[in-house]
Amino acid sequence: MEIKKIACIGAGYVGGPTMSVIAQKNPHIQVTVVDLNESRIEAWNSSDLEELPVYEPGLDAVVAEARGRNLFFTTEVEKAIEEADMVFISVNTPTKTYGKGKGQAADLKFIELCARQIADVATSSKIIVEKSTIPVRTAATIKSILDHTGKGVQFHVLSNPEFLAEGTAIPDLQNPDRILIGGEDEAAIQSLKSIYEAWVPSERIISTNLWSSELSKLVANAFLAQRVSSINSISELCEVTGANVDEVAHAIGQDTRIGSKFLKASVGFGGSCFQKDLLNLVYIARSYNLIEVANYWEQVILINDHQKTRFAEKIIRSMYNTVNGKKIAFLGWAFKKNTNDTRESAAIYVADHLLDEQANIAVYDPKVQENQIFKDLDYLASRSSEENRSLLKVVNYSYEAAKDAHGLAILTEWDEFKDLDWKRIKDSMKKPAFVFDGRKLLDRRKLEGLGFVYYAIGE
Ligand code: NAD
Ligand code: UGA
Repeated sequence: MEIKKIACIGAGYVGGPTMSVIAQKNPHIQVTVVDLNESRIEAWNSSDLEELPVYEPGLDAVVAEARGRNLFFTTEVEKAIEEADMVFISVNTPTKTYGKGKGQAADLKFIELCARQIADVATSSKIIVEKSTIPVRTAATIKSILDHTGKGVQFHVLSNPEFLAEGTAIPDLQNPDRILIGGEDEAAIQSLKSIYEAWVPSERIISTNLWSSELSKLVANAFLAQRVSSINSISELCEVTGANVDEVAHAIGQDTRIGSKFLKASVGFGGSCFQKDLLNLVYIARSYNLIEVANYWEQVILINDHQKTRFAEKIIRSMYNTVNGKKIAFLGWAFKKNTNDTRESAAIYVADHLLDEQANIAVYDPKVQENQIFKDLDYLASRSSEENRSLLKVVNYSYEAAKDAHGLAILTEWDEFKDLDWKRIKDSMKKPAFVFDGRKLLDRRKLEGLGFVYYAIGE
């Protein structure tokens, strides 16, 4: 089947960048990205490329090239579905916050709504592509809904999980390690494959059965998160033994069987997916009564929680066991550099812990807006939103955050923090001037030379 028109439901961190690159590389295919969220679509259509709803280096250039040519963003969901030969489902699949599986299972209500809407609208055969990360065997649910509620047209369901990481989404999409396609129908698989073959060498396009593809996505994230928790657990051991976690990571990473990536100790992993997908994997294992398997993967999350708590407690202990009324500067709020995404960011949990101790926090992040920071804190419901606003301030410059602060914590590894005038910062802070480096971004010798009391994870 030749694909002339694609619709993608969900214009978020995955749908937007992924479809932009597909459109850029396939100028002959019309790609329409739809979303219920009007302001999001408006932002995707903004003539000022700084206003795009997702910040990703290089995304603006891709959008500028394809938008209006063969890439469109609209809220007209039904029209886009009806016209499309292939429909990607790229909606959110958050952890359930209610009912059975609350706090663990993936909430599939948005996926089901998409399937029902496609079935309701479609008057011609379509290939349905799961782009969202979903529990293994979800394709069976989608297929069942399509077949039972559709208008008798044919649907083929494929799994095509996305492996991009935020902050590097464009290079990840333009030069992927692999593209994974799971499915049963060879012709449908081939149709999807041909879209990627416009720029991805065919040996990097893997096809498997549906369930292997769905499960591989959860497992890939679980393995990546496990590496971060593994090195973070060792960071604590380094701190009590005099070993240095960067040196240990380097030494073990030289073994090609281990490899050097994803061994950077930190204040803890964040992001919308690692924890969500691990919880989901644990839930699936438990639901099949695989208790040991579930407990094994759950430990990756417990170490991550421990790492965030440990960092906050280190700050309190170092500052003479009280942070009440003391100003602490936070450099960074996003869950990693080069993104404006704050979902599950370690900064939120470290701040919450310190606010419980009545600290005053001043946050600066180059890409995160003030309203997002308060939204993140209010969501935890640890205290009233008035109290969050009185204890925490969001400022526009690192120097403003640091002025008169007793301590400064680095929560996100933004490059610009490395190049700050650290002498100026030291001079403007209360003494002793504490720096807590949750990203191992700065040079200990330089900082100590300037007179800071410097703590970094894993040293
Ligand atoms: P997101 O929340 O940024 O975007 C999802 C969008 O879908 C929202 O804008 C929402 O309004 C829209 N939506 C929901 N239901 C809809 C409906 N019925 N009709 C139209 N629009 C609807 O989420 P995201 O970060 O893009 O993630 C999407 C999926 O991709 C998730 O399953 C996630 O696990 C997976 N994933 C995410 C990443 C990442 O880096 N964020 C990477 C790989 C995979
Ligand atoms: C991750 C995966 O890397 C992607 O392949 C996957 O597609 C995506 O999840 C998803 O499914 O959403 P992402 O969460 O965007 O991507 O970013 P990562 O680079 O994986 O970082 C996740 C967290 O781990 C960040 O908080 C980061 O700071 C932390 N991290 C990462 C470390 O602390 N140390 C490391 O060595 C690597």
